[in-house]
Amino acid sequence: MAHVIATDIAPIQPTVVPPNLEVLLQHNFNREWNLPHNAFDLVFSRWNHLYITDWRMFLRQAYTALRPGGHVELHEELYGYYSDDGTYTPETSLYHWTAWCQEAMLRFPQREVGLTSDGVVAYLREAGFEQVVVRGYKVPVNGWPKDEKYKEIGRLNQAQLLMMAEGGTRVLMRKAYGREDEESMELVRMAMADVKNRAIHAYQRVYVIYGRKPE
Ligand SMILES: C[S@@+](CC[C@H](N)C(=O)[O-])C[C@H]1O[C@@H](n2cnc3c(N)ncnc32)[C@H](O)[C@@H]1O
Repeated sequence: MAHVIATDIAPIQPTVVPPNLEVLLQHNFNREWNLPHNAFDLVFSRWNHLYITDWRMFLRQAYTALRPGGHVELHEELYGYYSDDGTYTPETSLYHWTAWCQEAMLRFPQREVGLTSDGVVAYLREAGFEQVVVRGYKVPVNGWPKDEKYKEIGRLNQAQLLMMAEGGTRVLMRKAYGREDEESMELVRMAMADVKNRAIHAYQRVYVIYGRKPE
């Protein structure tokens, strides 16, 4: 059975985990990784791009941790929301909230808020990875699609967006401006009303990128 080591800086994990999973806490991926070299079949990272302060260092360490022939796989999103039929517009609260978050995040210059899949691919190649593959997905913000599979994906995405938006905005506010303000919290609530609005056909652009360490 595969042995999996999960890392995080914060203790957010469930207490009941599978027997083949080891959780390493206080593991800061922006510092030196205290993990074996040339040892892992796979390094997997999802939804971390807003926290990675130095992609070159991050991928260099992923490369070092992998055995020759091992893979790195990254799941990330291109920041923001999109629509193909013009129903997501700059007039929506979702747009204003997204712009507000982006402005707050730009106060941390190391964070690459607008990182594209091309940017990630360039970092991967620079780190030495080969056979790099990119797959793009549109992830709806709610159950607006007619297609049953995408409707279900949208419903699940809506649930996680509603769960994280208020707390995430509060943390961002405190970090960026040192305080919370009720006006911004009202904006989050209005943005989440847009997230629930099926007349707005918004989606996120998610990409899955993987590459291989040469033998
Ligand atoms: C958006 S969540 C993604 C969680 C998980 N990877 C997923 O896909 O559901 C970002 C995670 O990164 C963790 N994190 C933030 N900064 C970190 C750092 N410097 N080192 C390690 N983990 C960090 C946070 O504690 C949080 O669990």
